[in-house]
Amino acid sequence: VVDISSLYGDTGMFTYDPGFTSTASCESKITYIDGDAGILNYRGYPIEQLAEHGDFLETCYLLLYGDLPTPAQKADFDYRVTRHTMVHEQMTRFFTGFRRDAHPMAVIVGCVGALSAFYHDSTDITDPMAREIASIRMIAKVPTLAAMAYKYSIGQPFVYPRNDLDYAANFLHMCFAVPCEEFKPNPVLARALDRIFILHADHEQNASTSTVRLAGSSGANPFACIAAGIACLWGPAHGGANEAALQMLQEIGTPDRIPEYVAKAKDKNDPFRLMGFGHRVYKNYDPRAKIMQKTCHEVLSEMGIKDDPLLDVAIELERFALKDEYFIEKKLYPNIDFYSGITLKAMGFPTSMFTALFALARTVGWIAQWKEMIEDPSQRIGRPRQLYTGHAKRDYVSIAQRR
Ligand code: ACO
Repeated sequence: VVDISSLYGDTGMFTYDPGFTSTASCESKITYIDGDAGILNYRGYPIEQLAEHGDFLETCYLLLYGDLPTPAQKADFDYRVTRHTMVHEQMTRFFTGFRRDAHPMAVIVGCVGALSAFYHDSTDITDPMAREIASIRMIAKVPTLAAMAYKYSIGQPFVYPRNDLDYAANFLHMCFAVPCEEFKPNPVLARALDRIFILHADHEQNASTSTVRLAGSSGANPFACIAAGIACLWGPAHGGANEAALQMLQEIGTPDRIPEYVAKAKDKNDPFRLMGFGHRVYKNYDPRAKIMQKTCHEVLSEMGIKDDPLLDVAIELERFALKDEYFIEKKLYPNIDFYSGITLKAMGFPTSMFTALFALARTVGWIAQWKEMIEDPSQRIGRPRQLYTGHAKRDYVSIAQRR
């Protein structure tokens, strides 16, 4: 709490909290995290139970409506999502305006924002039905757009969704099927991907979710808000860390180089950080990282990858860092991004798609948080204050007199 009366007069209490480390920006009933105990619950359900027994679409239902669905509710929800998986055909022309070597996140952020130009009937945020349809459309269409971004980047034709497949299996189909061959999604990989989506579905008021809420607080339409969230997620300190973590493991290459990289990460004159390590909230362990590590082993075994040098480096790096005084003292543990890159790579996704998959899964969390905010009667436009540290008032000097 700082005294700012000299700047703004007597405005009452004023808190200065860079990075919002101890300021709650909203009330929420969606996700609970206890960072010291390593607990993550969606609507009260532990992430471990949802990842083990649930599926992604029922997790979406839970996040959106507050309870797990009954069989009838689940069937209806699945039907509504699958009915909306196609995107407007004109979106295909939108894609062709991008360079082939564009980063998929650059394409997706543009295409998701552009959905508001195609689905006018769900942009009226004051209409509950419009909000509902926008939510379903977003969960259904973001995977289609992500898969199209991938297909476009490799020069293959777009593959239309198959609504007889489960959500994750359909995504594998849209990414990896080719028109000249029959494609059957591998059920083990589809289940693993579904679990990865569950792990990423929501994470309370992180940077991208706060961005969605801030954008939404002005009354912006939901497609624009989610596009803002995707843009924020792209940063390497946030969702971009899965891509950066894999690049780092590749750069380290062999376990004998680990001490060199750990020393770099500890050197305050070197901006390098161990990617996939550390978290603003988890100071004991990230419960998602444990499930991700198990999923990683399952996927590698299914793909017949016995000795993955990247996995060897990752396991050794984790072991090494967790014994190091610096990492112990600063409570830096592997986060969800540490093992997700190796897993997604083994499934056949290129590095550039990793953050896109994160965005796809997080879309439901963003939309649930956006709806909760819009439906909260105490909602006001988000307007952070600042601590002004610039010049005091001074008078204008004409250019001829300036020296
Ligand atoms: N490697 C080395 N040192 C680190 C790391 C790291 N990965 N993370 C934090 N530190 C150090 C910082 O240098 C700082 O040291 P200091 O106290 O001597 O200045 C201290 O630990 C605290 O770090 P902050 O940056 O203040 O912590 P913050 O909570 O702001 O940042 C973050 C959290 C962004 C996740 C950070 O740990 C980081 O950059 N990690 C690497 C990127 C990453 O993996 N991001 C994914 C996060 S999970 C997600 O978004 C899904």
